[in-house]
Amino acid sequence: MDLERRELIQAAIAARSFAVANFSNFPVGAAVKTPDGRIFTGCNIENATYGLTVCAERVAVFKALSEGCREFSRVAVAADSSKLTPPCGACRQVLWEFCGDIEIILADLKGNAESIQLGELFPRPFDASFL
Ligand code: THU
Repeated sequence: MDLERRELIQAAIAARSFAVANFSNFPVGAAVKTPDGRIFTGCNIENATYGLTVCAERVAVFKALSEGCREFSRVAVAADSSKLTPPCGACRQVLWEFCGDIEIILADLKGNAESIQLGELFPRPFDASFL
């Protein structure tokens, strides 16, 4: 990974420390980068009703959208898992909606990282082109 990508991973790892994950004990951090160089971070935020839990990726993207950003270059996701943690199905849909075929960097805390395009994780998406 180049320096820019490693910085994004570090931002995701730092955001993970703010996770509200008392139910799963599985904290996740995410960081999304915009073409003008800004980084927005997110962590998972769980709820006692479970279903209202929001993943780190959606928090990061929604924060960026709510600050006026509409273009994204890449997103990093950090978790402490034996396999690199990919975005869940709901996050894939949201990422596709707002970021298109974006680069997703999956990272753990041991320095392992892998880059994958959302189109590979989420082939044949439903999107606005059907409406
Ligand atoms: N989670 C994320 O925040 N992002 C992912 O990519 C996978 C799962 C969260 C949701 C929940 O708070 C916890 O991890 C366990 O599923």
